[in-house]
Amino acid sequence: MLPIIAPSILASDIANLQKEVEMLNQSDAEWIHVDIMDGVFVPNISFGIPVCEAVNRHAKKALDVHLMIEKPEKYVEAFKNAGASSISVHYEACHHLHRNIEQIKSLGCKAGVAINPHTSVQLLEDVLADVDFVLLMSVNPGFGGQKFIKNTFKKILDLKSLIEKHQTNTLIEIDGGVNAENAGKLVKAGADILVAGNFVFNSSDPLSTIRNLRVQSQ
Ligand code: DX5
Ligand code: ZN
Repeated sequence: MLPIIAPSILASDIANLQKEVEMLNQSDAEWIHVDIMDGVFVPNISFGIPVCEAVNRHAKKALDVHLMIEKPEKYVEAFKNAGASSISVHYEACHHLHRNIEQIKSLGCKAGVAINPHTSVQLLEDVLADVDFVLLMSVNPGFGGQKFIKNTFKKILDLKSLIEKHQTNTLIEIDGGVNAENAGKLVKAGADILVAGNFVFNSSDPLSTIRNLRVQSQ
């Protein structure tokens, strides 16, 4: 199966967002990854609801909103209204994760749970059947352009066994440091969705970079 490619607009030319989104509309990417950072959960601030709305005005692809924020329950409805088709919240940021997942699904969005590199996939066992996808951070969240953490491969295998044990249809999304070198191995290990920021937007030909990521990693 070909993976879903989700370019992260964090690495795009934000001053020319319309042009960047139109480029993604022409591409083989199925999702557009929107990284929301609050400067509290992560040591960086990216952008918020108005930027998500602006992307949505031009996007023909599904918006995949990754909330790296505290108290995500306060904002998920606003992001749904800003065009989100899937929303992921961090395990580490949620006191009532099950409730947060139900909230996202009740809005009609796909629900994802994201975990940091240090968080064990085993902790997700009791919500696995409730989420549409698990987002494994393959860098520490907060910044684009970081080096891929190799332990992610082990986490994919662990998550795969958990999914098989519970016979769920949970998809696996990998986020951080994805490039042509690791994409194929990630998909072989069991990844279904690949987020890529710098590798796409810093390449000389983002359209063929996206196409190659998708096709060459099958
Ligand atoms: C990191 C973000 C990632 C990031 C990926 O906190 O969640 O989505 O934008 O960017 P690259 O592909 O450059 O590591
Ligand atoms: Zn992300």
